[in-house]
Amino acid sequence: MSKITPASPEIHFYTIFLFFLLTFSSCAASQPHDEEQTILLKLKQHWKSPPSINHWTPSNSSHCSWPGITCTNGSVTGISLPDKNITGTIPPFICHLKHLTAIDLNSNYIPGKFPTILYNCSNLQYLDLAMNNFVGKIPDDVDRMARLKYLILGANNFSGDVPKAIGRFPSLQFLSLVQNEFNSGSFPPEIGNLSNLEVLQLAYNRFVPSAIPENFTRLKKLKELWMTKSNLIGEIPEMVGDMPALEHLDLAMNNLSGKIPSGLFRLKNLTELYLFWNRLSGEIPHVVEALNLAAIDLSSNNLTGTIPDDFGKLTKLTGLVLYFNQLSGQIPESIGRIPTLKDVRLFSNNFSGEVPPDFGRYSMLEAFEVPDNQLTGRLPEHLCAGGKLLGVVAFDNKLTGELPKWLGNCSSLLTVMIYNNGFSGNIPGGLWSSLNLKSLMLSNNSFSGELPNKLAWNLSRLEISNNKFSGKIPCSICNANSLELLDLSYNRLTGMIPQWLGNLSNNLLVLDLRMNNFHGTIPGTFARGNRLRNLGLNGNHLEGLLPQSLINCQNLEVLDLGNNKIHDRFPNWLDTLPALHILILRSNRFHGSIGDSKTRFPFPKLRIVDLSHNEFSGFLPTNYFTNLKAMMNMDEEEKGERRYMGDGYYRDSVTVTVKGTTIVLVKILTIFTTIDLSNNKFQGVIPKFIGNLNSLRVLNLSHNILTGHMPPSLGNLRLIESLDLSSNKLNGVIPVQLVSLTFLEVLNLSNNHLVGPIPHGNQFDTFENNSYSENLGLCGFPLSKKCGDHNRPLIQEEDNFEFVDGFGWKAVSMGYGCGVVFGLATGYLIFLTGRPKWFVRMVEGSRHKKSKRLNKSARRQGGRRN
Ligand SMILES: *[C@@H]1O[C@H](CO)[C@@H](O)[C@H](O)[C@H]1NC(C)=O
Ligand SMILES: *[C@@H]1O[C@H](CO)[C@@H](O)[C@H](O)[C@H]1NC(C)=O
Ligand SMILES: *[C@@H]1O[C@H](CO)[C@@H](O)[C@H](O)[C@H]1NC(C)=O
Ligand SMILES: *[C@@H]1O[C@H](CO)[C@@H](O)[C@H](O)[C@H]1NC(C)=O
Ligand SMILES: *[C@@H]1O[C@H](CO)[C@@H](O)[C@H](O)[C@H]1NC(C)=O
Ligand SMILES: *[C@@H]1O[C@H](CO)[C@@H](O)[C@H](O)[C@H]1NC(C)=O
Ligand SMILES: *[C@@H]1O[C@H](CO)[C@@H](O)[C@H](O)[C@H]1NC(C)=O
Ligand SMILES: *[C@@H]1O[C@H](CO)[C@@H](O)[C@H](O)[C@H]1NC(C)=O
Ligand SMILES: *[C@@H]1O[C@H](CO)[C@@H](O)[C@H](O)[C@H]1NC(C)=O
Ligand SMILES: *[C@@H]1O[C@H](CO)[C@@H](O)[C@H](O)[C@H]1NC(C)=O
Ligand SMILES: *[C@@H]1O[C@H](CO)[C@@H](O)[C@H](O)[C@H]1NC(C)=O
Repeated sequence: MSKITPASPEIHFYTIFLFFLLTFSSCAASQPHDEEQTILLKLKQHWKSPPSINHWTPSNSSHCSWPGITCTNGSVTGISLPDKNITGTIPPFICHLKHLTAIDLNSNYIPGKFPTILYNCSNLQYLDLAMNNFVGKIPDDVDRMARLKYLILGANNFSGDVPKAIGRFPSLQFLSLVQNEFNSGSFPPEIGNLSNLEVLQLAYNRFVPSAIPENFTRLKKLKELWMTKSNLIGEIPEMVGDMPALEHLDLAMNNLSGKIPSGLFRLKNLTELYLFWNRLSGEIPHVVEALNLAAIDLSSNNLTGTIPDDFGKLTKLTGLVLYFNQLSGQIPESIGRIPTLKDVRLFSNNFSGEVPPDFGRYSMLEAFEVPDNQLTGRLPEHLCAGGKLLGVVAFDNKLTGELPKWLGNCSSLLTVMIYNNGFSGNIPGGLWSSLNLKSLMLSNNSFSGELPNKLAWNLSRLEISNNKFSGKIPCSICNANSLELLDLSYNRLTGMIPQWLGNLSNNLLVLDLRMNNFHGTIPGTFARGNRLRNLGLNGNHLEGLLPQSLINCQNLEVLDLGNNKIHDRFPNWLDTLPALHILILRSNRFHGSIGDSKTRFPFPKLRIVDLSHNEFSGFLPTNYFTNLKAMMNMDEEEKGERRYMGDGYYRDSVTVTVKGTTIVLVKILTIFTTIDLSNNKFQGVIPKFIGNLNSLRVLNLSHNILTGHMPPSLGNLRLIESLDLSSNKLNGVIPVQLVSLTFLEVLNLSNNHLVGPIPHGNQFDTFENNSYSENLGLCGFPLSKKCGDHNRPLIQEEDNFEFVDGFGWKAVSMGYGCGVVFGLATGYLIFLTGRPKWFVRMVEGSRHKKSKRLNKSARRQGGRRN
């Protein structure tokens, strides 16, 4: 169990309060002074004198001045030794201190079961044993400590169920059982009988799923209810509206359903309301009288309707967190006028209309997060009025117009994320160089103008792709030493790619200059030890040779040089790059044969290769087909989990041709594999070793001059989804082994010299004429030409080594077996269909934020410790 950290303000407060109380309340009949000192010294000995209580030494000064000891009228009434490395048990003789009213041993390493010996401390009112190593059940007669006011047992390993006796402490004010291992049963409704209870903390326990007992609503003095992550189900009792003292309600991270009781928003003393991460539905109650509310977090529920305009009356509100719901309507202007407002997190809802222009004008906004809504109009004019704004996060909306000027004068800004909107015009001058700016993400808008001469010195992320920026790359960027991500793709930038961009790569992870109008050569200045992961230069007018210094990019995962005019031979010398996943040389002037590799396992990670539309010639690279490890026997583990390249910091994207169409993969599954060698002048046969690449999903060898038979080993490409061998000079029959390729969705064998019957069964029953057109002698379904008897399926002889391991027979029986129905499985390829690019980032971001908050609240509930 992880122990949790420092002093909780609440507990600290109670401690002080308690000792203050005790000073005036202990009984006067005092125990002999020496006797008490002897007991304390015995205690010290029992605990083997941890250094922290070494100062307890006999002397003629009173032990009342020893650290951790409190006396009242000369008698020991309190022992307070939190976080003192105590590893021993609590000894029975501690209760021989007859006036002992308070024991605080929070954050030590005390082992064993609940110390029932404390039943003999008959005056005990305050017991804090949180964050120790206690195990076992809390005993059924725990209520024998009848005078207890504070019982704090959080962050131990107490297990079993919580005994009903816990509801029989007449004076109990503070009960904390957070973060234990209660696993058989739930919290007893008897807790509802603790009529003096002010604080109840049951959070972070794996209780048996149960509803909040109605009886809890009888706790009329309860100020704080913490039941975070306690396996709550059912609805929140409407009667919580009748708990007038409630100040803090945390029911987050449960499985609560139903509506938010309207009574909650009438609780005059309520200041913090955390209901996030449940399944609450319905509308947010519209009569709002809880005027002390300072924090509202209802995120990750299923709430509908609008934000009540009443919320504007919450003049102490600092945080309004409503993301991941289905809220709609406008963001009320009244909220934007709350002077205390700091955090507004409304993302992933269905808010529409314009953000009120005055929003934030009288506030001290720090976070303004509204992405993934339907917002229109301009950004409001005064978000930074309080001078504290850290982030404008508004991507994935329909915002338009020019950016307001204030963005250029808001020096507190750390991040501006406004991609995927309809903004236009120039970027306000000061924004580029805003003092504290770390990320500026403007992609997918219609911004124009030139790049600035000055950039924020700390900028680590600059993404402006898909806009109309023009001009050259200015040297402001060469001073941006913190830059990790530079995405200028899909703009109208011109000129040469400056040599210094290569040097910059010492910090740079992503350099994406695709789809601009750059000319000249690729900079040759990639320094040793650079961190570059993604180099995208596709779609420019670059010419010349590949620079040898690319070999210094040992972390390179994506190299996309397609659609340029590079005139070179195949870069075998890159095949030692240990991390290269994606190599795209498509549509250039590469020529010559690919040749052999001198590397034992060349391109060990390569999964996406596109060499199409070049002038390569010679034989297909058998040597590579035999050894591309990443396309063979892909781990089972990797198949299960859907991950994308660059997850977590940047979504790599590439353009590839798949299943006959050219698509932009805005995210690339790490399991996606393709080889595209089409439209070259490769000749000779298709090597049977192609069958080794059994994790390949797309293979395109079309438009070459390949001859010979289709190797039956193609039937080993068990994951293949698209196979295009069209427009070659292949002859012979279609191997029946292909019938076993149950993921195959697209097959193109047209324009060859194939003959004989088209296999049937499985996917082959779904292909149409155009898969086979323009061949010499194919027959059978779907073609109208019938097969004669002489066209009985042939089993090819030349490759019959495959029959040795029985594979071929399996395929044959599958193809021709009677009535076996195979599911027409669909593939794993996910193109533009999934969640948008930002989604995972956001989820990760919010999860991160949540866990931070969690720790904080756990800390507040648990006690102290490092
Ligand atoms: C301490 O002793 C004084 C007089 O001796 C008495 O008035 C007072 O009530 C005592 N305080 C407590 C808390 O017993
Ligand atoms: C006892 O107290 C006296 C006076 O306060 C002091 O001088 C003396 O050193 C003390 N003795 C011990 C053993 O602490
Ligand atoms: C507890 O022990 C740790 C290491 O054993 C030490 O660093 C720490 O200072 C000790 N704390 C106290 C209060 O003695
Ligand atoms: C409590 O005290 C009584 C007598 O005062 C003694 O008999 C009993 O053993 C004690 N219990 C424990 C658990 O120390
Ligand atoms: C408490 O429980 C956790 C996890 O269940 C376990 O790792 C830890 O060893 C336990 N501690 C003790 C003292 O039993
Ligand atoms: C709780 O109080 C009710 C009456 O207010 C009583 O009937 C019930 O027995 C009590 N429960 C316990 C466990 O004491
Ligand atoms: C719950 O409260 C009702 C009265 O509201 C009482 O009759 C009942 O005994 C209580 N249940 C428990 C388990 O204390
Ligand atoms: C609400 O808070 C105020 C101020 O702290 C306090 O005086 C009042 O008693 C509280 N109301 C209730 C019902 O506890
Ligand atoms: C929440 O409850 C629903 C049904 O009430 C159940 O299907 C679901 O698994 C529960 N979720 C969790 C996380 O307990
Ligand atoms: C959310 O509400 C919609 C209807 O408003 C419903 O279809 C959907 O199942 C709900 N989702 C959850 C997780 O309860
Ligand atoms: C979002 O709001 C628009 C109108 O603003 C509405 O047409 C659309 O159906 C809503 N979508 C959802 C998922 O509620």
